[in-house]
Amino acid sequence: MQKITVKASQSYDVIIGSGVLGSAAGYIGDVLRSRRTVIVSDDNVFPIYGTKLKETLEKSGFAVSEFVFPHGEQSKSHAVLLNLYGFLAAQNITRSDSIIALGGGVTGDLAGFAAASYLRGIDYVQIPTSLLAQIDSSVGGKTAVDIPAGKNLVGAFKQPKLVIADTDTLSTLPDAFFDDGMGEAVKYGMIWSEELFDLIAEGNIKDHLEEMIVKCVDIKREVVETDEYDKGLRMILNFGHTLGHAIEKTQNFCGLSHGKAVAVGMYLITSAAEKHGIIKDSISGKLRSCLETNRLPWSVDIPAETLFENSVNDKKRFSDDINVIICKTIGKADIVKLPISEYKKLITE
Ligand SMILES: NC(=O)c1ccc[n+]([C@@H]2O[C@H](COP(=O)([O-])OP(=O)(O)OC[C@H]3O[C@@H](n4cnc5c(N)ncnc54)[C@H](O)[C@@H]3O)[C@@H](O)[C@H]2O)c1
Ligand SMILES: [Zn+2]
Repeated sequence: MQKITVKASQSYDVIIGSGVLGSAAGYIGDVLRSRRTVIVSDDNVFPIYGTKLKETLEKSGFAVSEFVFPHGEQSKSHAVLLNLYGFLAAQNITRSDSIIALGGGVTGDLAGFAAASYLRGIDYVQIPTSLLAQIDSSVGGKTAVDIPAGKNLVGAFKQPKLVIADTDTLSTLPDAFFDDGMGEAVKYGMIWSEELFDLIAEGNIKDHLEEMIVKCVDIKREVVETDEYDKGLRMILNFGHTLGHAIEKTQNFCGLSHGKAVAVGMYLITSAAEKHGIIKDSISGKLRSCLETNRLPWSVDIPAETLFENSVNDKKRFSDDINVIICKTIGKADIVKLPISEYKKLITE
């Protein structure tokens, strides 16, 4: 078991390790003010881990109820959020009570935003069970729901009181979602740590899961502590994402999943920057082989022109500059401000 303390506007511990969920009631009891809580979870995760968690909490004197919603991104919606508010009200949840988010990033974002907004804010604990949630979304306090105009457009910064990441829960995570999380793990290696990149590039990552997760969370901790409200450094977490989002959008969110689109986005921007002399050392080959080793794609059959068009929003297309995240070496990211015309050349020529 390892503990990382995040010193943001609110300090909290991230407990990472095999079997830590078994001791959850103790950890949670130490940070919450009341013994009344609601577990928020989806219909895949609750049956596997929720029932046991509820029992453990009840044995420690907690009064627990559960709000279980259908799994998937479409539940990160105002409709489900409204149902959740209604549930919290029906359960007479007060300012001193809390929410426990048990599940992947969808659960964490939805439950976190409910916690940020219900009664102007109540405490919440993150128990991430997907790789993406353990290394990324459960730490840092970004919470949100989607609206028809776009993903994550309504949200709030709200740090959790505690994060418990039990690496054993990843044993039931379907491979496709595991691989998705690995896309973000490669990103952390590229932007911050060659050592982490090398660990992932070796290939047998399931033998080093705890080590990898701890390294990723520690990077996220440092970035969030420096720039909690996403005004500068935190932007480097978007490495690969501008083109990744463009791929997801071009494919109407029915093609490559997020982590895989980010994998391609990282490779495309790196090889383009190499080709245009922005990167002096040749690193795209290493990145490509790391992606392949981890069952991640590095190319997609979409014209560069379309990717460009879909990676800048309409307002930006003709005038502004765009911040592009480029890793000039493995383990170090730069925020490069380019006029849109230069960015267009970079992507399409
Ligand atoms: N808040 C942030 O900082 C942040 C950062 C990155 C991503 N996100 C958000 O995270 C979401 C994606 O997260 P995700 O990939 O975890 O999606 P998810 O929550 O939908 O989980 C993926 C799938 O795996 C299932 N699952 C999760 N854990 C499981 C387990 N241990 N065993 C079996 N099944 C399990 C879920 O039921 C779901 O079907 C997106 O909405 C994205 O916007 C947020
Ligand atoms: Zn991402």
